[in-house]
Amino acid sequence: MCGIVGYIGKQKSKRASEVLLEGLSKLEYRGYDSAGIAVLENDKIRVEKSVGRLAALREKIEENEPVGTQGIGHTRWATHGRPSDRNSHPHTDCSGDFVVVHNGIIENYLTLKEELIEQGHEFKSETDTEVVAHLLEEVYNGDFTASVREVLRRIEGSYALVFMSSKHPGMLICAKQDNPLIIGLGEGENFIASDIPAIIAHTRRNYILGDGELAVVTADSVAITNRAGEPVQKKVFEVSWNAEAAEKGGYEHFMLKEIHEQPKAVRDTLSQRIAKDGTCIRMEELKWSREYLEQFTKIYIVACGTAYHAGLVGKYYIEKLARVNVEVDVASEFRYRDPIVDKHTLFIAVSQSGETSDTLAAMKESKRLGATTLALTNVVASSIAREADNVLYTWAGPEIAVASTKAYTTQIVLFFMLALYMAELKGTLPSERVAELVRELKNVPAQISETLSDVEPIKTFAKQYGFNEDVFYIGRGLDYSVSLEGALKLKEVSYIHAEAYAAGELKHGTLALITEGIPVIALATQKTVYEKTLSNIKEVKARDAVVIGIASADDEELEKYVDHVMKVPETDELLLPILTVVPLQLLAYYAAITRGTDVDKPRNLAKSVTVE
Ligand code: G6P
Repeated sequence: MCGIVGYIGKQKSKRASEVLLEGLSKLEYRGYDSAGIAVLENDKIRVEKSVGRLAALREKIEENEPVGTQGIGHTRWATHGRPSDRNSHPHTDCSGDFVVVHNGIIENYLTLKEELIEQGHEFKSETDTEVVAHLLEEVYNGDFTASVREVLRRIEGSYALVFMSSKHPGMLICAKQDNPLIIGLGEGENFIASDIPAIIAHTRRNYILGDGELAVVTADSVAITNRAGEPVQKKVFEVSWNAEAAEKGGYEHFMLKEIHEQPKAVRDTLSQRIAKDGTCIRMEELKWSREYLEQFTKIYIVACGTAYHAGLVGKYYIEKLARVNVEVDVASEFRYRDPIVDKHTLFIAVSQSGETSDTLAAMKESKRLGATTLALTNVVASSIAREADNVLYTWAGPEIAVASTKAYTTQIVLFFMLALYMAELKGTLPSERVAELVRELKNVPAQISETLSDVEPIKTFAKQYGFNEDVFYIGRGLDYSVSLEGALKLKEVSYIHAEAYAAGELKHGTLALITEGIPVIALATQKTVYEKTLSNIKEVKARDAVVIGIASADDEELEKYVDHVMKVPETDELLLPILTVVPLQLLAYYAAITRGTDVDKPRNLAKSVTVE
């Protein structure tokens, strides 16, 4: 997620550039790839930007710092267009009279860009954001606010936007839709920010902008209006958090924050990839044909850790929906086992960071053997993204906690879309079924929110079972894949010994470990194997295990056989992994809290493993 800071004051001694750079530095902890500021200097907009760390930008302007008391700044986490000076924000129109910073995704930017190019606009970057500046130039009618409103009417997608114009000194305009934006209130000065830490050193009094709202901010006033242009009265939100808590958005840990960010992360990953009429998947990044796809007789999905678990779900989707043979392997095994790879192989690397050395090496090796490569990653222009022939990005935003959560759910979502896309190309699914699955997929973000809305029972279980030394997870099919991820989460953050087993495998060994009081988390959401899973649950119950069942909301059977049930909203069973993993993530988190471990930085683990 990118970072935004805006400042408007009137004391010449307080330079906007200083406030902006200092504010941006408070957002550095989240990671970013480039930064930039725009300051109104002697009635002209001066833009300075630089790829890399903020220090590079500071160095660039050190000798000749912009003079001016109003400006906007941005740290970028690339989505459209690789990290570069050109793609960094702020972005200007052709005349240089309008400048904008943006967080989010403008979904109809390609259409708008084509129109604007036809109208004679010249684009300097590959970003979706730049269309906003040119569109403003195009619709400008002398009234800054009305023109911004017109821009907002024409853009689709999610945004937090801040506008500045040399034609209208003394004011900044900001607006938001599905991306956070706050206005910090000062004395004779005001601030705008995407996140509280950026401005907490200046003020603790904020207005939190709502979706569809627009604010005109001067040094002495803030006027907020709704979509219809009617004034909105806001309550001042007093921040009581310290700077450290503010970085975590008020959550105690990044892991919890990131678990709660999943509805938005999934929504962003879906955006632009569902056709306008909502009946099928579009993959602008791939543009494959049926013939192209049919040359692949075999797919390898290769990854490490959580990404490997997402790959297991991916295999299930691709085989079931697109009917292509898929093998999943952990990268450290794959690269040394002399795999059978040739030009008919599609190699898919999954990696949140895009930097995991085993995954990268496996990809290079497959490429050498003739495979076509595809990366599913969260970091634009990461090593794995650069090495791959094709890239699909999860738009989860920076993930800071070592234990991966929102990267996993967005990887699954991406696999689901990829499988549907392949199925459509190959004609392996009737179009009605594709449309039905797309419909269900669109409901998933709201269903994750629903799953997150009641954490109390999970906290209670965590307290009750957080001191057990062993926990077992069982499931069949997709439930088994999710079990593996649930057990990994628990191990990573709470240090409880956790094992996941294919429920049908229990009697081949693990059942010997099931004794009185041992917690078993049983996932039973897959209809085709439901009865079979139920028999496995009865097997562990017969050994006096304490069983916590995870079921779909329409299930009325499971509670008869288990000690507790956690339910997730009803959807197509293929999509349930995106929901069932959420209570498991929360269970791991609260178990770690019960045990007092270092949740965000578990012992011996690293976020990005760039060594073998
Ligand atoms: C490390 C992290 C895990 C992650 C794995 C793969 O072990 O702690 O959370 O799943 O690496 O990382 P990647 O960035 O390739 O997804």
